[in-house]
Amino acid sequence: MCGIIGCFSEKDCYGRLLRALKKLEYRGYDSAGIALVHKNRRLHENYRLIVRKKKGYVSALEGAVISGDTGIGHTRWATHGVPCDRNAHPHVSGKFALVHNGIIENHAALRQELCEHGETFLSETDSEVIVKLIDRNYAGDFFAAVRAACARLEGSYAIAVISADHPGEIICARCKSPLIAAAGKGALYVCSDAPALAGEAEFFCPANDGEYIRIAEGKILFYDSAGNEIKKSFLRLPAQIAALEKGDKSFMEKEIAETPQALSDTLKSLHRTDFAPCARQLRGAKRFFAVACGTAYHAALAFRDRAEECLHIPVLCQTSSEFRYRSPLIGEGDVLVAISQSGETADTLEASRLAKERGAYLIAVTNVAHSSLAALADFPLLLRAGPEIAVAATKSYVCQLLAVFYLTAQAHFFKHTRMPVWFFELEKLSETVRAAEECFLQTSHLAKQLSQTFGMYYLGRGQDVVTAMEGALKVKEIACVYAEGYAAGELKHGTLALIEKGFPVIAIATDKKLAKKCENALAEVKARGGFCALFSQYEDVLSESCADFCCRLPSISEPLMPVVSVIPLQKFACEMCLLRGFDPDKPRNLAKSVTVE
Ligand code: F6R
Repeated sequence: MCGIIGCFSEKDCYGRLLRALKKLEYRGYDSAGIALVHKNRRLHENYRLIVRKKKGYVSALEGAVISGDTGIGHTRWATHGVPCDRNAHPHVSGKFALVHNGIIENHAALRQELCEHGETFLSETDSEVIVKLIDRNYAGDFFAAVRAACARLEGSYAIAVISADHPGEIICARCKSPLIAAAGKGALYVCSDAPALAGEAEFFCPANDGEYIRIAEGKILFYDSAGNEIKKSFLRLPAQIAALEKGDKSFMEKEIAETPQALSDTLKSLHRTDFAPCARQLRGAKRFFAVACGTAYHAALAFRDRAEECLHIPVLCQTSSEFRYRSPLIGEGDVLVAISQSGETADTLEASRLAKERGAYLIAVTNVAHSSLAALADFPLLLRAGPEIAVAATKSYVCQLLAVFYLTAQAHFFKHTRMPVWFFELEKLSETVRAAEECFLQTSHLAKQLSQTFGMYYLGRGQDVVTAMEGALKVKEIACVYAEGYAAGELKHGTLALIEKGFPVIAIATDKKLAKKCENALAEVKARGGFCALFSQYEDVLSESCADFCCRLPSISEPLMPVVSVIPLQKFACEMCLLRGFDPDKPRNLAKSVTVE
């Protein structure tokens, strides 16, 4: 999604904005721009705005530096209007320039109203209406004009605004889109995302919904929705964020390699978590609901599989976007488990708000302690995966699985006063995942063999269906290969029609009792000339199969195998991506944190 940044610094403001935008690149974007309040030495007008914005990469903004100590910047992920220079932010009206992340739902009505008052628009964006409103409401008080404009907006936004009439001042507002203020040596910032300030800021403080941030007279000030100043405490930027460096590999490769550490950090943190506050809900729940999007949704499905099997109660699992609009039968006495790496995914936040309004108890599984989801939750369950920069979730998915399995074990404990047997193998998880790296050489060969394929299937049975879905999603999003993850039993109900000579099918078989059934599906593929690859921890399952390619996974208690079996599939997707000439960290059209609906 769009990334926003604002900076006040007497030294190198443009360079600081540019560096932050480069760090925001990971969120996914199609254009970028910067505006500064520039001191005009020649004309009588003292200050003016200078804007530079371009379709394409942030690097297009490098070159001639704009001088000035107050600026804003933006990476755009197009929602309204195609990616082009004109639609790129900052947008300007009169003496104001604005950057925006979010969606203004009533933009069409506002645009019409503004046009009727004689305004003309330069872009097709929803964001331009905000700066027009600010300009029209301005009567000398910058902050009042921003508040008056925000009062007219419906939807989600984090905005940062500068004005040629107010050098040294940046005004920001937040409604359902992330926004933080931060301070570093010689610079004050506002930003959508802490990792953008790695190496620049030392302290940060998130804004809550409805709050305003004002940088003025070299200070950061917070205000409530009525415009009253409020006191907030700043926290030190976590060391892992402050030290974020990619090195010579992609973030995705780096993060896959960090998975064993992420797992052991998350496990330690889970051991330290006091589950007593949610004991009554976990013990008494007649059913669970689980919501999430994308990869996190696969973690929700894995939670369903494990919890239904262990707790013998139904788990109703839905993508967050569908949950909201299906009149879900959730209410008092129900528990909603919402899973989100970023804790800022708009649909997951809205689904969680809806569930809470109806009286459900909210458990949020998230990697970002200061996220909106964590703040909303009755019980935040935090991952310690460390910052995940690559758009494609890898180490966070694996830690999500660990966290939801751990939650299941706790619920089992509260119901039956004992942990499920597999709980005691969690300590071995990190080393087993490290052992899975031995599969990488083989997956790299497999990727070489399949890199030119136009499509592929991933199959599994039982707990492996979710892994098949996640494997398919990974290869789709970063390698741009059409892929489907399926229950192997469904193959002959339609999918088989597409199997022809050489069509690749990857199967995962980690559940011994279902392995034969998976093997039968592979035999059907093979009989039609398809290419079969099989991943299993069981030597006999592999040796008795008809697969053209076999990979032996390291072994751990079966219910924990989804944490292990996905590792080579993530690496395979990454290899496919590189072989096909794509950048794993910048998947086409995708964004890391989907803060709009
Ligand atoms: C896929 C991926 C996305 C996210 C999804 C939810 O690799 O990363 O599908 O999983 O956008 O994001 P979070 O977990 O931040 O809510």
